[in-house]
Amino acid sequence: MEVLKINGGIKLAGTVKVDGAKNAALPILAATTIVGGTHRISNVPELRDISTMMQILESLGCKTRRDDDVITVDSTGISSTRIPEELMMKMRSSIFLMGPLLARFGEVETFQPGGCAIGERKMDIHFSGLEDLGVEFVQSGDSIRGKSERIIGTAIKLRFPSVGATENLMMAAVTAEGVTTIENAAREPEIVDLQDFLNGLGAKISGAGTSTISITGVDSLRAAEHRVIPDRIVAGTILCATVACGGSVDILEARVDHIESLVTVLREMGADIESHGNGIRVSMHERPSAIGELRTGPYPEFPTDLQSQVMVILSIASGDSSIRETIFESRFQHVEQLRLMGADIVIDGEVAKIHGIDGLKGARVASTDLRAGAALVIAGMVASGETTVENLNHIDRGYHRIEELFNGLGASIKRES
Ligand code: EPU
Repeated sequence: MEVLKINGGIKLAGTVKVDGAKNAALPILAATTIVGGTHRISNVPELRDISTMMQILESLGCKTRRDDDVITVDSTGISSTRIPEELMMKMRSSIFLMGPLLARFGEVETFQPGGCAIGERKMDIHFSGLEDLGVEFVQSGDSIRGKSERIIGTAIKLRFPSVGATENLMMAAVTAEGVTTIENAAREPEIVDLQDFLNGLGAKISGAGTSTISITGVDSLRAAEHRVIPDRIVAGTILCATVACGGSVDILEARVDHIESLVTVLREMGADIESHGNGIRVSMHERPSAIGELRTGPYPEFPTDLQSQVMVILSIASGDSSIRETIFESRFQHVEQLRLMGADIVIDGEVAKIHGIDGLKGARVASTDLRAGAALVIAGMVASGETTVENLNHIDRGYHRIEELFNGLGASIKRES
C-alpha cells in the first residue's frame, strides 16, 4: 500500500499548469463511439479513470492509443454493445457509453453501477430521459438491456439538473428523428465542452451552459479532433491549498469564469485573486476569515467537488462557518479524518459546523473518496509536523501525481510504499 508523507507548515510559491478536465474528457471519450472513424482528443489528463475508460472502449472493439496528452480512438470496428460489468463496477462513468451506443446501434447492455462512498447516486434520471426518447429497458438480474428501433426527439424535463444524465441524453439524441429539448439541464462547463465536441462531429446542439439544451437530430456524423477544457476542480484545489497554506501561486490555464463561486468565497476569506491572460494568480498573506454559511449546488452554485478542500481552510479560519452539502448525502466523510488532525467540526444532517482553530496537527489519516483525499493532502500541508495519508487509489483517480504538483510549489510530500 502506498501512502503520502507530508511535512506541513510550508507556504506555497511558484507556477503550475492545470491539465485537462477529467470530467470533460470522460464523456467525450465515450462519445467517440457515436460514429466510426479516428478521433483525436488532446489535453487529456493521465489518470486512472481515463485508463479505465480506454479499457472500456477497447472491450467494445475500439482501438485506443495515448501519446503524451493526446488520446486517439478508432471506433470503426465496434463489435459489442455490452459494457463489461467489472469495468462498470470499477468506474461509474462507464454509464456515459449508454447514450452513444444507443445513438449508433440502437442497443446497449449495461449494469447498475453500485452506490459509492459519497452517496447512493441513483440512475433514474438517465433511464427516464432515455425512455422519453423511445428506448425500452429490460432488466434481468444485474443486467439492463436498452433497445430502440429509432430514437425519437422529444421534450424532456429533468427533475434535477444531473450532470451525467444531461450528457447521456445529449449523446443519445444526436442522431434522433426530429428535435430533442432537455429542460432543467445541468449547466456545468463540461457540458459545454461535450456540446463543442459533438458539434465537431456534425451534431446540431445549442444551449449548453443554459438550462435548456436543444438537439436537432442529424443523419450523418464524422470523426473529429478536440481539445479538452482545463480542469476547474484541480485549479480550485490548488487555489484552496494556497489560501490554506499562505503564499503566492500562478495557476496557468485555470479559467476564473469556470470557478467564480469559489473565487468569490476565497476573496471573502482574504485571498487576493486575479485573472491574467493565461490563468489565475492567487496570494494569501493573512489568517483566513470565517464566511458564515456556504451551500453547495448545481453549477453555477458552489461545486460539491470543492467542498472538502474549502472546509480545510475554514477549519483554521478566524471564527465560525458552516457548509451545507446539498448534492451528495454522504460527502462529509473527511470530517472524521480532519478531526484526527484537531479540527473542530460538528455534523448536523446536511450541515457541517466549523469552528476555526489556530492550527491543525499532523496525524495518520485515510482518504475516503477523491476530493476528500485532496482535502487531506491540503490539511497535511497546513498542519504542523508529519501527516500520513492512506488510500491513495482515490486521489490518483483525479489528480496526476498530486505530490509532484504541490512539491513544485515548495511543499514537502513523499510517496512511500
Ligand atoms: N441523481 C439522481 N438520479 C440520477 C442522477 C443523479 O438522483 O439519475 C442525483 C445523485 O444521486 C446526486 C445528484 O443527483 O445526489 C447529482 O448527481 P449528478 O448526476 O449531477 O452527478 P454525476 O454526473 O454522477 C458528476 C461528476 C462528479 C460531480 C457531480 C456533481 C463526472 C464524471 N462526475 O457526477 O464528480 O461531483 O457531477 O457536480 O462528471 C468527482 O470528480 O469527484 C465527482 C464525483
